[in-house]
Formats: sequence, structure tokens, C-alpha cells
Amino acid sequence: MADKIKVVIDGIPTEVEPGTTILNAARQIGGDIVPPAMCYYSKLEGSGGKCRTCLVKVTKGSEKDPRPMPKLVASCRTNVMDGMEVLNITSPEVVEARKGVVEMLLINHPLDCPICDQAGECHLQDLSYEHGLATTRYEFDRRTFDKIDIGDKIQLHMTRCILCYRCVYVADQITEGRVHGVLNRGDHAEISTYIQKAVDNDFSGNMVDVCPVGALTDKTFRFKNRVWFTKPVEAHRDCPTCSGKVTLWYKGEEVLRVTARKDQWGEAEEFICNTCRFDKKETKDWVIEGPRNVSRHSVINANHYYELNPAQVVKKNPELMEANKNQFERAKKF
Ligand code: SF4
Ligand code: SF4
Ligand code: FES
Repeated sequence: MADKIKVVIDGIPTEVEPGTTILNAARQIGGDIVPPAMCYYSKLEGSGGKCRTCLVKVTKGSEKDPRPMPKLVASCRTNVMDGMEVLNITSPEVVEARKGVVEMLLINHPLDCPICDQAGECHLQDLSYEHGLATTRYEFDRRTFDKIDIGDKIQLHMTRCILCYRCVYVADQITEGRVHGVLNRGDHAEISTYIQKAVDNDFSGNMVDVCPVGALTDKTFRFKNRVWFTKPVEAHRDCPTCSGKVTLWYKGEEVLRVTARKDQWGEAEEFICNTCRFDKKETKDWVIEGPRNVSRHSVINANHYYELNPAQVVKKNPELMEANKNQFERAKKF
């Protein structure tokens, strides 16, 4: 095996395999220094390089050639070199540039959050909250499109699409015979199913999971509930088509939706088939494993408890324990 490569990101050193991108090196370190990624998706070959949210500053190119890179670079598409030094959140230039990227992503984006199914688990919403302006400098009319049905289970709201291409890669790489893609370029670019051909195959539902915004929505879940009122539970079934490992989203006794399990970067751990996603909405269809751990920063986490035993919480998530110290102290008295 080739020697590991040393890289320093926001002052934190790490060692990674040759060929690792700056983004993935940052993910290995974890925490706030990881650049946001709206188009890169580790399970989709060729993804990345479209949205520019992952820009970083390379202050030292490598040990051999220590010159800084003249412009900010997309961390999802730039490999680390031995001795490279990178700045992300510690560079005001990067923070300012990211703010500009978010503003750009939002110029044509509708103010749909109150009625959008993605709200509460939307990376664009998080980014605008962190970097966006409260106002827009855009003076022209926003692009408008009619809603398009992609098969009988998925709906495309093109107005919310940020053209990240992830759904195109899903259709290309994990379904048979791609029948949708990006038509036209620039301000006219749009996701299209070419003459409205339905994407009808076993894995097309994964387009909904990879979409970072609410452009592709699950028609069996649309407008049924806000995600933060639902309870995510891990479950599995013996499925002949996929791994059958999913997250069920409950409201009371009712399974409102079924999704793939997402990792800490919001990516599906394993892609699931349409039968599991759309047709198995009864508890009896599943073997329940237990409640899903959701990120403390997620709005879905509101009012959900990880464990009943504070000692276990300390072991598992000391930050959570610190943040909820008073509640746990009170809980211990009962
Ligand atoms: S895609 Fe995200 S930012 Fe856009 S309307 Fe939906 S929740 Fe809001
Ligand atoms: S529909 Fe969603 S996944 Fe597809 S390109 Fe648009 S934003 Fe990306
Ligand atoms: S995540 Fe790197 S350009 Fe989109």
C-alpha cells in the first residue's frame, strides 16, 4: 500500500490515502471544518464539481511545491498532496465566497419552505440560515415551471432544483436505462424526463433521497406531515431486490414514509428499492430495530431523546449531555 499523505485542514493535521479529495480528508477529521457539499455524493461516480458550496483555500500546495493555489478550489474535486495546507471555516475569504454561492443558489429559488416536504432536512435551508442574506439583490422574475410527474410515485418541482445532477447520476448508475437528464444550459437548464417518459424501474425512488432540496418529492408522503413531527425508526425486511434496511417515519401508529438510512453526511447508506420505499407502509411488513439516532443539530431531533439512561448518553454523546444537563438532572429525580 502506498504511503499515507499528510494534510492540514483548518490547523488540524491528518493522514489519508493517496487520491483522497480535500472534502473526504475533512470528513475523516469530522466536525465543523467539513465543507458543505450540495452536489457531491460519495456513492455516485462523477458527482461533485457543480455547486461550488465546498470551496476551500489551499494556502500551501504541497511539500514539494509550497506555493498557494491562486484561486479557491472545489474540495470535492481536488485531491490532497503531501504537505498540503487548507483553510475552510478559518478563512474569511472562503466564508465570504460561500455566502456568494448561497446567494447565487437562491436567486431563482422559491420561498417554499413553509410548504416544502424537504423543510427540516434540507441542506439548502441550513446553508441559507448559516450564510444567506435575509434579502435578495435579484431584481428579475424567478424561473417558474409546472410540476412534472416522474412516474406515479415521484414529483419534480423544477423551481426548487439547484441542478446538482445527483438524480441524473442515480438514474444513470443505479437504474436500468436512463430516461432523464439535464436539458439546455445556463438559465434555461432543467431536469427533464424527455417527453415526460416515466422513470419506471426498481430503484428510481432513490432520486428522492439524493436530492439535496425539495425538488424531487415522494408522492406517497407529500404534504402528509412536517418531518420534525414524525418519529424515525430503523427497520429491515427480507427483500429480494435490495438490502431491505430502511428508516420508517412514524406518526402515531402510521408509517408515513420509508427512506434509505442516511449517514452523518446526509447520504444514503444503502440504496433501497421502490417496493420497500413505496409499497411497504405497514408495521407488520417490517422487523423494527429501534429508534434512529438523529444528529443533535437536526431539527428532527427536537423533543426526541436518545436514551433514558443519562450515564449512557454521556458515554455516547457528551455534548448532548452537556447541552441538556438540566433536563437530565430533573429526569433523574423521577
Ligand atoms: S428546497 Fe429547502 S430551501 Fe427550498 S423551499 Fe424546500 S426546504 Fe426551503
Ligand atoms: S432535482 Fe434534485 S437531485 Fe436532481 S438535479 Fe435538481 S436538485 Fe439535484
Ligand atoms: S460539493 Fe463540491 S462543487 Fe458541489
